[in-house]
Amino acid sequence: MEVIIVDTYDDMSYECYKVVEHLVLNNRNASINTTTGATYDGMFEYLVEAINGYKLDISNTVFSNLDEYISPRDAKFSVYTYMHNKFYNLIKMKPLEIHLIDGSVSKDRIQDEIDRYSKILENNPRDLQILGLGTNAHLGANEPGTAFHQDIFVANSHQSTIESTISYHNLEAEEAPSQMITMGYKEIMEAKTILVAASGKRKAQAVYDMFHADINPETPASILRTHPNVICILDKEAASLLGELK
Ligand code: GLP
Repeated sequence: MEVIIVDTYDDMSYECYKVVEHLVLNNRNASINTTTGATYDGMFEYLVEAINGYKLDISNTVFSNLDEYISPRDAKFSVYTYMHNKFYNLIKMKPLEIHLIDGSVSKDRIQDEIDRYSKILENNPRDLQILGLGTNAHLGANEPGTAFHQDIFVANSHQSTIESTISYHNLEAEEAPSQMITMGYKEIMEAKTILVAASGKRKAQAVYDMFHADINPETPASILRTHPNVICILDKEAASLLGELK
């Protein structure tokens, strides 16, 4: 793993932006699968600025997303809402393709939606997979215990994940979503390059575990140590337990 440790959240965001910029400048047909969440708010701001300032041409880039809540599409916490409010509605240039999982389908159509998205992923091998880390080191919505061969599925969120969602989106406990359709490790690990970023003290233990725990499903992010091309960008606080890697 290539590890970059920077001082602040803003430095981390800029380094993440640079990874995307490098890919798009060198491969105008890039396929990028991204996550959402507080970790990447700053990166999306840098991306919007670059695209609207004509520094980055994404007209041939394909964007897709890692996961989506089982919820109405326009719920304030949905991945659909995040991606539109923080990226797609703000950029002047449209990407070649945008793919999002639809978590609003009725229960009896969830398998169809999973099949539809699997085909999209098959047709769009990812050059870059962007990942955040749960406080329990989960990836996407693959919580501890999910088998490493898992492919796209409906996952139940752990309590710590539900609490993070409540706090990030300022939700009442009863409106918090508890299930997501998420890409599994199978599709995540197919990407040529994986970017994983983390910021703040609340991620320090998960970051430590990503590097030092045994590689097994109890620590989802440990699987990243088996991928040949991972870039890990951390701010000082998230890296604070790493000691020897500094
Ligand atoms: C959530 C999402 C992930 C996200 C992660 C980190 O549970 N399902 O896709 O990457 O947690 O979120 P944050 O960046 O807000 O800490």
